[in-house]
Amino acid sequence: MGSLTVRNISEDVKKRLRLRAAANGRSMEEEIRLLLAEGAADAPVAAKPNVRPAKAAPSEAAASQVLLIIGGGIAAYKSLDLIRRLRERAIAVRVVMTRAAQEFVTPMSVGALAGERAFTDLFDPASEFDVGHIRLARDNDLIVVAPATADLMAKMANGHADDLASAVLLATDRPVLIAPAMNPRMWGNAATKRNLARLVADGVLTVGPNAGEMAESGEAGTGRMAEPLEIVAAIEALLSARDEKPLAGRRIVITAGPTHEPIDPVRYIANRSSGKQGYAIARAAAAAGADVTLVSGPVTLPDPPGVKTVRVESARDMLRAVEKALPAEVAIFAAAVADWRVAQAGEQKLKKDGGGPPKLALTENPDILATIARLKSNRPNLVVGFAAETEKVIEHAKAKLKRKGCDWIVANDVSAEGGAMGGDDNAVHLISASDVESWPPQPKDEVARQLVARIAAALGHQ
Ligand code: CTP
Repeated sequence: MGSLTVRNISEDVKKRLRLRAAANGRSMEEEIRLLLAEGAADAPVAAKPNVRPAKAAPSEAAASQVLLIIGGGIAAYKSLDLIRRLRERAIAVRVVMTRAAQEFVTPMSVGALAGERAFTDLFDPASEFDVGHIRLARDNDLIVVAPATADLMAKMANGHADDLASAVLLATDRPVLIAPAMNPRMWGNAATKRNLARLVADGVLTVGPNAGEMAESGEAGTGRMAEPLEIVAAIEALLSARDEKPLAGRRIVITAGPTHEPIDPVRYIANRSSGKQGYAIARAAAAAGADVTLVSGPVTLPDPPGVKTVRVESARDMLRAVEKALPAEVAIFAAAVADWRVAQAGEQKLKKDGGGPPKLALTENPDILATIARLKSNRPNLVVGFAAETEKVIEHAKAKLKRKGCDWIVANDVSAEGGAMGGDDNAVHLISASDVESWPPQPKDEVARQLVARIAAALGHQ
């Protein structure tokens, strides 16, 4: 029997196996083979004591499996050290190497350090029968791409799957951390910037690159891969965050983006909202374990991973979608809903008929936030509104909190100088009936993480 596939192992058993394998300095497969051999011989042998230099026994939480994808760059030599550092910390490492990576380090040295052979080929029958790229993609807590070359980032950003590394990255549902490494000009190139922005929007995490001397003589700038210990620190932070899901099991509804209110079949009233802040909150809430429904007006952002995204056009559609998503424990209204719509939108395109511009009668849209905040039954426990203000930000936001009946308002300055509309940063005030907290200007992702942490605290997570 050359290979074996074991299915339906419970998470608990997997965790114990990982722990046992890590403690014995073996891969999971080696450990399972040994257990089977012991069982078959009907003569249980005690687990072999550490074959590596003795370390403190790993704690249950430390029994983790990382899939390391090594890309083809000179920094690949640092990945050997990365494997060693991870295994020292009782983190099991399985390795996939691209074809180009094998020009820099050999599968033999990688395998020796990782404790099991490196995987290199999508069409290698041995690895497909033994493990398979889908299992490589899933049977781990985290995927780390180091070095992440410009080419590998481009493939990831565009969903290619023509080799083992890219196929695994496309098939995974695990968090992915990349450690970019390339020549500074490649890093600064518009195409790389575009790919990086796409990857970040897709939820891919990054560590580095650092600035400094490059391997090529006379070249310096940003593009050096982060040092192995920096990558290890990022990995450890992510692995411990994995166990911290303060919003696990909580249902959250979030609105985001503008609404489009039709004038006729081709024209509409809209506003400048990009949806970035609402999408960042949806990503942060999902990362904290929440069951998130994102009701989004028309934006150009991709659906956040792990979030149920409902796309709508108008304010009335948005209200219906929010009502349908209830019950929820928390509702966050980050959308810039159009206050008015055209009372009688034209069924056909309005034509210039010589009688001057059409007189468009406007009527008020339903206030989604106020409607949900004032529900008699099914009201979420925590209703959070946003206030987009161009002057007297706190004063107006406090009035809005009262008028709309919500629990918190996140107030931001949307004047042109504030740069919040469409920009990547936001300076907000978190306002409740009794308190005003002003947060410094920071990326919208950070505002989202802080808000989610506050929500978790308010829901009683320790
Ligand atoms: N909001 C809503 N439905 C509307 C209008 C606003 O749900 N029809 C929500 C927004 O999502 C936001 C909050 O109400 O959470 C405040 O939005 P904002 O545009 O700042 O306030 P307005 O209600 O439009 O008030 P004003 O025009 O007076 O600033």
